[in-house]
Amino acid sequence: MNKEETVIKTLKKFNQEHIISWMNKLEENEKNKLIEQILNLNIEQVIDLYNNLNKTFEIGNKKIEKITAIDLNKLEDEDFKKYKNIGIDIIKAGQYAVITMAGGQGTRLGHSGPKGTFKVKLDNGEKYLFQIIVESLQKANEKYDVIIPWYIMTSEENNDQTLSFLEEHDYFGYPKNKVKLFIQGKAPLISTTGKLLIGKDKLIKEASDGNGSIYKSLAKDGIIEDMKKDNIKWVFVGGVDNILLKIIDPLLLGVTISEGNEIASKSVIKNDPKERAGVFCKIDGKPGIIEYSELPEEMSEEKDDNGEFVYGDVSILSHLYTIEALQKLSTKTLPYHIAEKKSEYLDENGNLIKPEGKNVYKFESFIFDAFSYYNDMSILRVKREEEFAPIKNAEGNDSPETAIKLYNAKLQKKLALYM
Ligand code: UTP
Repeated sequence: MNKEETVIKTLKKFNQEHIISWMNKLEENEKNKLIEQILNLNIEQVIDLYNNLNKTFEIGNKKIEKITAIDLNKLEDEDFKKYKNIGIDIIKAGQYAVITMAGGQGTRLGHSGPKGTFKVKLDNGEKYLFQIIVESLQKANEKYDVIIPWYIMTSEENNDQTLSFLEEHDYFGYPKNKVKLFIQGKAPLISTTGKLLIGKDKLIKEASDGNGSIYKSLAKDGIIEDMKKDNIKWVFVGGVDNILLKIIDPLLLGVTISEGNEIASKSVIKNDPKERAGVFCKIDGKPGIIEYSELPEEMSEEKDDNGEFVYGDVSILSHLYTIEALQKLSTKTLPYHIAEKKSEYLDENGNLIKPEGKNVYKFESFIFDAFSYYNDMSILRVKREEEFAPIKNAEGNDSPETAIKLYNAKLQKKLALYM
């Protein structure tokens, strides 16, 4: 069987005949490209996910337990100093790298470019989100007399735009040889009626497959090897859109090392039991995050003897790993979660269809699902107003307006912004 016959057989097997008729309308070279793409897709997996849409994650018999966090504000001075010094030693030794995850589509914000190219007007000037990250790195470099390598995870959709933006702005003064972009993985979209779609490039429409893609993408692009050559021992991974994110925090390093863990995260305490955010817990004895929609109401409201939520530690996408942990996790396959999205596509006659509402399922893996490969992790609970100002929505909660307010308030209190 030649390549074309193989592809046709697969498409027929999974009821995707519309792609066969599309294929037949293409020029020879376009057709060959499509055939090559399909040969490399795992259509069976996508169809399988589609057929099992209703079997969502359920707590079922899974045992949910509290996970203990270290509260930054309850640390004794002595411990605080001890942890900080441990971390400072690592950073000063040049063993620390930072990864910014910037492969998301930022659909809720609705900004036309990659989220890192979004600009906010702060009391200390107008800044792009990428620029804020560079400022943090530069401050740390000055303080610890190092140059921290900066890695940026982009996606097929936004890599070129990200690269040209950074070039245009001369990497905001960061040494270019210390910045590396790598592209995350992708998965085909499937319509709500179970059909693969054609994109403007005349190929099967794919999209970035969630921030859990980071582990495999790091290995695929040789980034882990690169870090090892550079003698990196600890790697921070954070999102692109929290303008108060502390990407270099010796305290987190010190706590994690002292607790003998290989992975760690920061949390803030949830505002109210119904906050739409996942919380840290142990699931069947392993660390993880349970989505607000999956946590039974009585558990979401449960408080301990000190009046604190038992399941109250919200993740702020601020994670730390040893290089060995990243290496181990890069060999694991994380489960896909399903999100309904709106996506343009070409119909069988090549007309661009712009749907009014959500029309596709998108498959995404979540970075925190990998925590279950460890028996334990460190969680450092920090103050929301000092470290968490995310920009997710165009307005309302977690919008530029709320984030800017938080940033400016911190500025006014003269608290060190980034460290
Ligand atoms: P979000 O889950 O907030 O997604 O990402 P998003 O794409 O930025 O925004 P919406 O949901 O479309 O509105 C949290 C972090 O994970 C990164 C994002 O760039 C952000 O830093 N991310 C998300 C990726 O790097 N890749 C992905 O596939 C998804």
